[in-house]
Amino acid sequence: MDAALRDTLLQMPKAELHMHIEGSLEPELIFALAERNKVKLEYASVEELRTAYAFKDLQSFLDIYYAGASVLLTEQDFYDMTRAYLQRAHADNVRHTELFFDPQTHTERGVAFGTVVNGIDRALQDARKEWGLSGALIMCFLRHLSEEEAFATLEQALPYRDKFVGVGLDSSERGHPPEKFARVFARCKELGLRLVAHAGEEGPPDYIRTALDLLKVERIDHGVRCLEDAELTARLARDRVPLTVCPLSNIKLRVFDKVADHNLLKLLDAGLVVTVNSDDPAYFGGYVNDNFLQMFEALPLGREHAYQMARNSFSASFLDAAEKQKYLDEVDAFFGQ
Ligand code: ADE
Ligand code: ZN
Repeated sequence: MDAALRDTLLQMPKAELHMHIEGSLEPELIFALAERNKVKLEYASVEELRTAYAFKDLQSFLDIYYAGASVLLTEQDFYDMTRAYLQRAHADNVRHTELFFDPQTHTERGVAFGTVVNGIDRALQDARKEWGLSGALIMCFLRHLSEEEAFATLEQALPYRDKFVGVGLDSSERGHPPEKFARVFARCKELGLRLVAHAGEEGPPDYIRTALDLLKVERIDHGVRCLEDAELTARLARDRVPLTVCPLSNIKLRVFDKVADHNLLKLLDAGLVVTVNSDDPAYFGGYVNDNFLQMFEALPLGREHAYQMARNSFSASFLDAAEKQKYLDEVDAFFGQ
């Protein structure tokens, strides 16, 4: 790639809208926290753990991801994890980030909801003060668990309502269609929460349609399989429903065989509001700038695409109109527009 384009990708102001904070736990931090908390791991060393990061599909990743998260016990652990991610994001010129967190992964181990959310929130506040990096939280329901458990989690979350802007749906997609959570999402909508869901990652395009129709989500996380359905693709483009695409994740989880097979450019050519994100950067081999670099290296993407996706990342965010405009102006100025 030419050096100027590389520099543009690295330096351009950007927002990250699809990042699971538990997926930012690097093996070194997993081991440090395991030691601090006297948690026993199934892996003997950092190297052995990293070697296990060879996934055949989403579920084989999730098994290791939940095992990694088992070292998180105290508020300070959640702070340290989030701080480490925010430092990386700041270095990648991320100006705004919307983080997913999975409370059920922790509350089912006896960790209090407040411990999780307060630790993450304190790190977000520090990043805002120190670097002007804004952040918001999106609470995800684990779709392999029941509707009843999701409702119970929502109850636990209500005292912390001011600490998150929206809810999402993640974990094992196949066999857990969006409609399972239609009533939970309806309640969240009444509460004024913003709504997103993972759909069309491994699951069929129809899960994207039902996430829109039955969950009333505003953004689709992943959504790359929409191209299998021309009518759905046209609808997503017409309604400007953003897709938070995670290229390296899709390669590591075998949604596509190799980087050059990724459909990012096809999604853009279909007129979709595409953003680039890192999903679970500690597990998938790179943070947001690595995702941009590898895609632009492998596909015929240029400066105009970079400009478009930098703009999309802010316009698809849950920032208010004035904040969005401030960041969009910064993007326009960066690209000399
Ligand atoms: N949880 C963390 N990463 C995920 C992904 N890529 N898909 C579904 N659930 C997840
Ligand atoms: Zn995800």
